[in-house]
Amino acid sequence: MTPKIEINPETCNKCGSCVQVCAEGVFEKQDKASLPVAAHPERCFFCGQCVAVCPGDAITHHGFEMDNFPPFTAEMDIGPDALLGFVRMRRSVRNYNQKRPVPREMVEKLFDAARYAPTGSNVQSLEHIVITDRETMDALARHCVEFFGKRVTLSQDEKALSALDPRVASRIRAELPFYERVISEHKAGQDPFFYRAPVLIVTHADLTITPCPLEDATLASYQMMLMAQSLGLGTCYIGNFYEYANESQAVREMLAIPPEHDILISFTLGYPAVRFRKLVDRKKPTVRWLGRQ
Ligand SMILES: Cc1cc2nc3c(=O)[nH]c(=O)nc-3n(C[C@H](O)[C@H](O)[C@H](O)COP(=O)(O)O)c2cc1C
Ligand code: SF4
Ligand code: SF4
Repeated sequence: MTPKIEINPETCNKCGSCVQVCAEGVFEKQDKASLPVAAHPERCFFCGQCVAVCPGDAITHHGFEMDNFPPFTAEMDIGPDALLGFVRMRRSVRNYNQKRPVPREMVEKLFDAARYAPTGSNVQSLEHIVITDRETMDALARHCVEFFGKRVTLSQDEKALSALDPRVASRIRAELPFYERVISEHKAGQDPFFYRAPVLIVTHADLTITPCPLEDATLASYQMMLMAQSLGLGTCYIGNFYEYANESQAVREMLAIPPEHDILISFTLGYPAVRFRKLVDRKKPTVRWLGRQ
């Protein structure tokens, strides 16, 4: 869609910032004294930077809701120590308070955070499913167990493994004890996939229009997780579901995933039933510098 982009000559101070920030070269400006013009609006990928940078509110970009560009306030800014502390406080929560449901407004707040995550080429194509009923989660868990069973069979079939990428084959071999443990926990009536969480969020996208689906979903879900944390909620990525979900037609049908879409990420959500009292240690990063230090 080519947007209409108007510049108000009364309020434009000809600073040229819109020309400078537009990565797509939408604006042209002849010289210092001239007004910019939106010469190539068809190139616009709706990043919003021209409107956000304009000191005179001179740009009306019809591809946006223009009242959704609020100015920065001091409360929006957090210092580096607070940010590091907050990201270090996030824990994968595998014990949920099942008696305390998550209010709908809180779940919606998570999607506010997801909405403002970066996306490759700014396509903003992620779609989300909120699952709150136990029967659906139990049915999904049964499909996961079925998949894990197939992996157990595969991990013991050296002929089939030798046909795979050797790195994948060695991972499958190494994960055999894990698959077996999860299957036996499920058999014993536990929920080793979704931890009986009150909510499961599943994110999917149309792969025909999304250049970086996994990255987009990961970034958006991480922002949702941080928002959840700020609301006193706990979360946990559930790779044991989303890594295999697309291989099951039954799962795709159960969640009404369109054929062009893939499930990209899922995480559980709920009030934690445990309280962490300390931050945790992590490995030091491995970093190589090429150039000046
Ligand atoms: C997975 C991913 C890959 C990206 N790759 C590039 C890139 O190669 N070059 C670039 O200029 N921007 C890249 N971006 C930035 C996006 O274009 C940008 O996030 C999007 O336009 C939204 O703008 P914002 O980050 O200012 O909110 C990438 C973003 C993501 C999430
Ligand atoms: S929204 Fe982004 S791409 Fe579109 S004109 Fe403004 S700066 Fe350029
Ligand atoms: S950023 Fe705004 S004020 Fe500056 S040249 Fe562009 S339209 Fe004019």
